[in-house]
Amino acid sequence: MTTQEITPAAGGSAGFDETLPFLDTLSPEYDRHLHAAHRTASDRSWVARTPVGLAFLHYEDVLWLLRDKRWRELGADALVAAGITDGPLWTWFKDQISSKEGEDHARLRRLVSRAFTPRRVESLRPLMRSTTHDLLDRFVDRGSCEFVAEFAAPYPVRVISGLLGIPDEDFERFHAWSRDLSLAYGSRIASERPRIEAALLSLNAYVDDLLVARAKSPQDDLISDLVAVEEEGDRLSRDELRALVTVLIFGAQDTTQCQLACAAHTFIQHPDQWDRLAREPEWVVSAAEEVLRYEPAGSGSPRLSTEDIEYKGLSIPAGTVALPSAPAANRDPAVYPEPDRFDLTRKHAEPMLTFGGGAHYCLGASLARIEIQEALAILSVRLPRLAADGEPEWRVGSLIRGPERLPVRFDAATA
Ligand code: HEM
Repeated sequence: MTTQEITPAAGGSAGFDETLPFLDTLSPEYDRHLHAAHRTASDRSWVARTPVGLAFLHYEDVLWLLRDKRWRELGADALVAAGITDGPLWTWFKDQISSKEGEDHARLRRLVSRAFTPRRVESLRPLMRSTTHDLLDRFVDRGSCEFVAEFAAPYPVRVISGLLGIPDEDFERFHAWSRDLSLAYGSRIASERPRIEAALLSLNAYVDDLLVARAKSPQDDLISDLVAVEEEGDRLSRDELRALVTVLIFGAQDTTQCQLACAAHTFIQHPDQWDRLAREPEWVVSAAEEVLRYEPAGSGSPRLSTEDIEYKGLSIPAGTVALPSAPAANRDPAVYPEPDRFDLTRKHAEPMLTFGGGAHYCLGASLARIEIQEALAILSVRLPRLAADGEPEWRVGSLIRGPERLPVRFDAATA
């Protein structure tokens, strides 16, 4: 049997030892009390059963799962359970860089990294600062805002638009497509399929036009660089370019939006550290790192075993789905002393796993990191005494997690 022929076994973790802890990852309760649920399970075992497969909980085992070549990204197979095996969404997942493995994947990463360089990412810092100030200017006098709609959502849209060279007037529809596409990572894929696919087809058509325009007249932006990139005669095809650009657009927005909302929510619970960040901005790099560790926006990118595997006494048949749980691994006491303590000055001996690990390590990690750093440095100064102004609404049943609504207030007089 080749790896391509393996499909996820139906029944999630059925067949595994029933004494292993069980996490009901599909229930709203799980999202609300995720860290407590992980702590209870991970104190007992490095692995838990879930309705969709296994969840790896300890740092060492999550890292093993991310790096072992007998596992591949679940990718489009995540759609099978929702009855989707063809059509635009299926093709989009199949064509994504994250669905490629081995040399096909390494080739794409090599070509992309020639265009998506550290220099290009660094050049976006002024745009990040001006965008942060611009968005804040719109609500700062009010002394309150809905943080997601008024900051966390529009900020990454503007940054990725700057990176790709997308005009301001397209922000709104761009953001709407990304919002609809994010439903493909949740538990309502089947019922939301028409909406998701409509957004995808619009995004594909938009990106096709952009690619034609940049091929004709290159600009100083990432799309023009991707179109031109070449390594020893090898270039990205039009289909590869479309798949890449659409995934960059999507990957850059929803995740970063949720991570910023997680950051604000975390600092609201730790007002002394918010004050400290405003007074001592030299901590901003470790503050961003600590937020990513403590309240990650991603639950992890699921894997599928491509052969029978024995690991730590557990027999894992081919076709098993496993989640490398970043929220659990990032709070492993074997790696992080006092893991449930949020500390913006924490020294990270090991990298947190919010961006995954191994060959598929997040392509946009450095962009996301500096987006969060630049935003936090300004927000902590301009939104003093940040506090909750009502209950946050957390997203439920999705691999990309965080508050969907976060009403906040702050001291407008000094803002
Ligand atoms: C805080 C924000 C972000 C989080 C939490 C995040 C998280 C992740 C995770 C968990 C993975 C899978 C890693 C693995 O399977 O080992 C991933 C992959 C990826 N991310 Fe991100 N990401 C973020 C921001 C971004 C941004 C800003 C971009 C684009 C500019 C981006 C583009 C990608 C791409 C293209 C992949 C697939 C890489 C591959 O398969 O080789 N991400 N991300």
